[in-house]
Amino acid sequence: MGLWRGRVGIVGAGHLAWHILYRLRVCEVPVVGIWNRTAGRGEWLARRMGVPFYARLEELVVRCDVVWLLVADRAIPDLAGRLPSGPVYIHSSGSLPLDVLAPHRRGVIYPLGSFHRARSVDWLSLPVFVEWTAESRAVVEGLAMRLFVRVGRLATPARQRLHRVAVVVNNLVMWLLRASRRVLYRDGEVRPEWFLPILRQAVENWAYYPEETWLSGPAVRGDVSTVVAHWRALCASDQALASVFWLINGYILSGDGWGQGRNGQNSGGA
Ligand SMILES: NC(=O)c1ccc[n+]([C@@H]2O[C@H](COP(=O)([O-])OP(=O)(O)OC[C@H]3O[C@@H](n4cnc5c(N)ncnc54)[C@H](OP(=O)(O)O)[C@@H]3O)[C@@H](O)[C@H]2O)c1
Repeated sequence: MGLWRGRVGIVGAGHLAWHILYRLRVCEVPVVGIWNRTAGRGEWLARRMGVPFYARLEELVVRCDVVWLLVADRAIPDLAGRLPSGPVYIHSSGSLPLDVLAPHRRGVIYPLGSFHRARSVDWLSLPVFVEWTAESRAVVEGLAMRLFVRVGRLATPARQRLHRVAVVVNNLVMWLLRASRRVLYRDGEVRPEWFLPILRQAVENWAYYPEETWLSGPAVRGDVSTVVAHWRALCASDQALASVFWLINGYILSGDGWGQGRNGQNSGGA
């Protein structure tokens, strides 16, 4: 397939719009301009990216081959319903079906990541999943291949499942780390960055090693009294973290399908 050539319009001025606009610039894809509900934010982003801001969405849309809807999920059905046919409309939501953009020519370009303006993105390693209808395939695939390296095709139900799991894992891990940080900061001797190696190891274990290698600690050995002692200590410093600790260790102690809870075969640290 040759290099896709077309003009892209961006609808929205949030975190993902910021990163996509940067990527479009790096990959030298022509950007017609930006529209955003709150003009001030859209104008600011347009200035930063050196592209025009359109006060009227319809005026942007008629100039584009692709209109990329980078707005809150709840706004996408309404926008799609009132926009004129012509360009290919794309959304990047993990939750919404492709057909929310019907009857337009349409596609999904979903990057499996967590985006914030203040945080750079490694587009070389980040997986991006696309979906299209027959008549929009060349455009959606062409644009995605021009912008990203790890591009795969995923139909709506699989993308929705992937997204749900990603949200649960990311938010659960981040919640735990944030709560842990509150506990750690109380003790001036301990620095959160000391935990980076064990966290990296945990993710590598999960991705590349069998389940027997994943867990360590007293619950895996069926050492209930040490689990209770840890829980009591946590209760004294952070009740919410103690509750989550109790719930998770309860699952581990019960075996939870790993078959390790009671037999003490794991040799992990306390
Ligand atoms: N951020 C991520 O980590 C991530 C990851 C994968 C996919 N996505 C997808 O990317 C899309 C944008 O997410 P984001 O995180 O960039 O959002 P965001 O930073 O929260 O920005 C939301 C954008 O949506 C606009 N908006 C909200 N309600 C609207 C409405 N009723 N009508 C028109 N515009 C409205 C906002 O306009 P105002 O400035 O006027 O408020 C703003 O431009 C979503 O579909 C999301 O699912 C995000």
